Amino acid sequence: MLHDPNHIYIFDTTLRDGEQVPGCQLSTSEKIEIAKELEALGVDVIEAGFPVSSPGDFQSVVEISKAVKNPIVCALTRAHKGDIDSAVASLQYAKHPRIHTGIGASDMHIRHKFNSTREEILERAVTAVKYAKGFVEDIEFYAEDAGRADIEYLAKMIEAVIAAGATVVNIPDTNGYCLPDQYGSKIRFLKENVKNIDQAIISVHCHNDLGLATANSVSGLQNGARQIEGTINGIGERAGNTSIEEVVMILKTHQSLNLNIDHINTKAFYELSRMVSTQMRMPVQPNKAIVGSNAFAHSSGIHQDGFLKNRENYEIIKPEDVGFPSASIVLTARSGRHALRFHLERLGHQLSKTELDETYKRFLTLADSKLDLNDDDLLGLITVASAR
Ligand code: KIV
Ligand code: ZN
Repeated sequence: MLHDPNHIYIFDTTLRDGEQVPGCQLSTSEKIEIAKELEALGVDVIEAGFPVSSPGDFQSVVEISKAVKNPIVCALTRAHKGDIDSAVASLQYAKHPRIHTGIGASDMHIRHKFNSTREEILERAVTAVKYAKGFVEDIEFYAEDAGRADIEYLAKMIEAVIAAGATVVNIPDTNGYCLPDQYGSKIRFLKENVKNIDQAIISVHCHNDLGLATANSVSGLQNGARQIEGTINGIGERAGNTSIEEVVMILKTHQSLNLNIDHINTKAFYELSRMVSTQMRMPVQPNKAIVGSNAFAHSSGIHQDGFLKNRENYEIIKPEDVGFPSASIVLTARSGRHALRFHLERLGHQLSKTELDETYKRFLTLADSKLDLNDDDLLGLITVASAR
């Protein structure tokens, strides 16, 4: 591939970090179905699983490796030889295999998870990368809990793993702790202070514990990261991961950022969102950005009036650009005459101003008592009008 310095690589971890959600476990065939759709979406990397974690996960990585041909297929490991051996075996059929290995980088993790020291953890990180590099060329290293890690130590670790052969360095905000400017500054610091950073791609992997995953990811990209990790619908551990559809549409909407995401077929988002939601039995919240059922629904009178005059008054993304069926004008007790007239005309009824005023009064009474107004309700209002 020609190297475009502003190409943003999309690393999808729906099938690994996303699948860690309780109750969301998928069968291998369900995972293959999602992987094929991710390939059609155009993602650069599919993290297919954590092969050492269970025979089922191992098999899923094997089958996904056989099923897709364009994206890199990635397998997660801890910084353990056994994990790496398992990942290598699971990736045997992958056209483009990647091993994603790593270890905790914050003092919190070093002391209270590994009961270890900075020096020892650094050595384990380097050993794991060197070991994995003996099997696979494409090695991504994750510095877990980098969001809370000491920046000088993090920089030292990143420099060491790149020297050991890592081609992508993942800086996870594992606990969704950082503010966007803090996270962006971390990425900037690494970009400016790690001597060999140009030999690797910096990746952002943000969790959503404070609702900042998308903002932090974009901040990371603005400060020099070129790969973003996330999931469809933002599913994942606890409050979830970054929503891929959100980051992609931010970059599309804000072309001035000059971050290239043209290889993503955004029209596939809505269908894929439904598929992931159904298979994982995980409903999408109606107000979810980009793919929620209300994402393109206009319901208050002020907005509806503005939208009907010119959709761009209230539409910064076209629904069809993300495969959403269409924008909707929802009739509620907050709707105005303009929206009512729009729907009545859609049903073939042209009303004079006086008729519309009359009908609108009856409409408000009905809308105050009924949440979902359908076409029959509207036709009922007209019938009452003509019977008078
Ligand atoms: O959140 C995290 O730190 C992770 C790593 C395993 C990449 O998911
Ligand atoms: Zn994660």
